[in-house]
Amino acid sequence: MIEKRLFFGIGLALEHTAHIQHWLDTSVIATKASTLPRNWHLTLAFLAQTDASAEEKVIEFAHSLVQPPFQLRFDSTGYWSHNGLFYLRPDHINEALCGIAEPLRSCGEALGLYRNSYPFAPHITLFRGLKAEPSVCAPLVPFTLDVTEFHLYHSHRLEDGLHYTPIHSFALSA
Ligand code: 2AM
Repeated sequence: MIEKRLFFGIGLALEHTAHIQHWLDTSVIATKASTLPRNWHLTLAFLAQTDASAEEKVIEFAHSLVQPPFQLRFDSTGYWSHNGLFYLRPDHINEALCGIAEPLRSCGEALGLYRNSYPFAPHITLFRGLKAEPSVCAPLVPFTLDVTEFHLYHSHRLEDGLHYTPIHSFALSA
């Protein structure tokens, strides 16, 4: 049976990726390379290995969600020592964000795809597997993401490394 590694997430515009990249290059010292800028995103729900039938079900479910567009302002960083993950986080827990993430996570769990060990904690992963927290010489200049859609991503490897490719998009509407 063919399975794909899938997750739901929110993408960044090129301007945000460039903004973060510039800040990392000029203001952050870490002991290893960052995650690939082309893959930066906010995970809504990780699904793990998913077969075609479950994929169809999660797509149908995602289409049924009704949430208005919203904004996320990123102004701070965080570090989880258990997995060495350094990330950006939004300045508050947005109701509309949880309104899509929680049901998508529950849908994956109900289908037996993936059991979440932790409550939803929105973040953009910039480094993983660090042995120590990076030094931040100057804080990130905050930026705001206009969220008008979310995507189902396929995580896969090509010759040039890991790719998170959007394979379905879901518009938010008021
Ligand atoms: P992240 O959002 O913390 O970076 C694709 O692998 C995406 O799914 C990554 O963004 C990753 O986490 C998330 N992911 C991968 N493995 C996971 C796991 N075991 N639990 C939760 N999320 C996971």
